[in-house]
Amino acid sequence: MNLVLESIALFWRVTWLWLAAVYRAVAPISLQSRKDVTGWLAVITGSGSGVGRLLAVRLAHLGCRVVLWDVNQAGNEATADLIREAVPGAHVWTYTVDLAKREQIYHAAKQVKVEVGDVDILVNNAGIITGTQFLDSGDQLNVKTMEVNALSHLWAVKCFLPAMLRRNRGHLVTVASSAGLFGVPGMVDYSVSKFSAVGLIECLRLELLKQGKSGVKTTVVCPGYIDTGMFQGFKYRFPLLMRELKPTYVADKIIEAVQTDQHMLCLPRLFYILVMIKGIMPVTVCDALAEFTGALNTMDEFVGRKKD
Ligand SMILES: NC(=O)c1ccc[n+]([C@@H]2O[C@H](COP(=O)([O-])OP(=O)(O)OC[C@H]3O[C@@H](n4cnc5c(N)ncnc54)[C@H](O)[C@@H]3O)[C@@H](O)[C@H]2O)c1
Repeated sequence: MNLVLESIALFWRVTWLWLAAVYRAVAPISLQSRKDVTGWLAVITGSGSGVGRLLAVRLAHLGCRVVLWDVNQAGNEATADLIREAVPGAHVWTYTVDLAKREQIYHAAKQVKVEVGDVDILVNNAGIITGTQFLDSGDQLNVKTMEVNALSHLWAVKCFLPAMLRRNRGHLVTVASSAGLFGVPGMVDYSVSKFSAVGLIECLRLELLKQGKSGVKTTVVCPGYIDTGMFQGFKYRFPLLMRELKPTYVADKIIEAVQTDQHMLCLPRLFYILVMIKGIMPVTVCDALAEFTGALNTMDEFVGRKKD
């Protein structure tokens, strides 16, 4: 096709895609088509508490067979019990996996394949936070943060993506963080790991596009502070502008994003605007805004799960 015709075609395509995206952003979810995941096999990491647990319950409600991976065996079993109680007849399997250990991930993935089958949905959700100034954080914690929050995603995708590609069906979900879009003092290694998780899923989306595997979808989730206990002590300066998210709300939005094949989910939506501001404003302006909004001090009183 000559370049002029190609450019005209691109113009109409981009216009159509924009309109479709705007519709998806503003139309109530009840008016949007949702994909049916009944019978799909979902692996959820970090399912032993918080958002992971809620996602596992919701996926089971939708008719998914669910595989729960967590290092916390008791928490994981509690999630399985919750599912069996809430969804009679649900299919649930639990595996105790330390995601900081690549060989454990590979071993558990083989077990899942043999004992349960090919995975359709992978939710990379497990996460940890050091929560200190960078120079006060030990090397071992830096490494572990990268292993759990970032590297485990690579290994799990390597295990489960090939079967998705073969069938051209599946969904990769990454629970990252707003700290994967913006740097925050007091969470350097966490932020590095989350930027990495966001980068991984962006690259994978483009690889899938290049390979023509339109049946395998991706969703990256970038939430702000969620009230699960992981970030106990985290403070926003202007709670009216930005407040803590309820874990049930976050889980509901993630499920909607999966059902509607939404690639990027920022919660609250204000983060979409902040990403735009970061893209167009000079760094000095962004820094001044960060100072004013208290973004530099959100972690000053952080205690995390130490308090529990
Ligand atoms: N809580 C927040 O404010 C917040 C904000 C943005 C993003 N997130 C992200 O959301 C995800 C879920 O967070 P949450 O608030 O539900 O946290 P959570 O602490 O309630 O749950 C994390 C789960 O991961 C598991 N886990 C930790 N280390 C593991 C390991 N080595 N191997 C296997 N499992 C391990 C824990 O046992 C736990 O069940 C995380 O990736 C987190 O970074 C959380």
